[in-house]
Amino acid sequence: MTNVSLVDLKVIEDARGKMIPLEYPKQLNFPLNRIYYIYDVDNNQTRGCHSHNKLDQLLIAVKGEVNILVKTPFEEKIVKLDSPSKGLYIGPMIWREMFDFSEDCVLLVLASELYDEKDYIRDYREYEQKALEYFRNEETNND
Ligand code: TYD
Repeated sequence: MTNVSLVDLKVIEDARGKMIPLEYPKQLNFPLNRIYYIYDVDNNQTRGCHSHNKLDQLLIAVKGEVNILVKTPFEEKIVKLDSPSKGLYIGPMIWREMFDFSEDCVLLVLASELYDEKDYIRDYREYEQKALEYFRNEETNND
């Protein structure tokens, strides 16, 4: 799916346990400016429900599991994050919703930019209009 990919993160394992390093540009395809993590979310809660104009993010369920809906005006899918070694890259202009958090879920988010409310699109109709234009331009640029 455009601007979305599920990434298998390389695990370094020895007798002492497992570790996953994330470093730009080796395992991360964007330079990191911010991290945050979401936890203690009731199973009936949905978070996200927005898109970003510019942001790149990598989502990792470092503990527990959660479902992520990723959507454009043209396609959508649900990705289950249930392992610290799975990362979901979400680029610009993707509508996302996070739901079905397990009780123990800790969802780590790595982001390319500092927090900026102006980069958010929180209204789906507004998102749809902007996304149609964005993906039309992407198509033209890729011709
Ligand atoms: P919000 O983006 O609504 O969370 P979610 O996408 O998980 O539903 O953010 C919740 C609140 O936290 C909102 O008031 C903005 C604030 N916030 C920050 O201050 N910094 C951040 O990096 C993020 C992601 C949110």
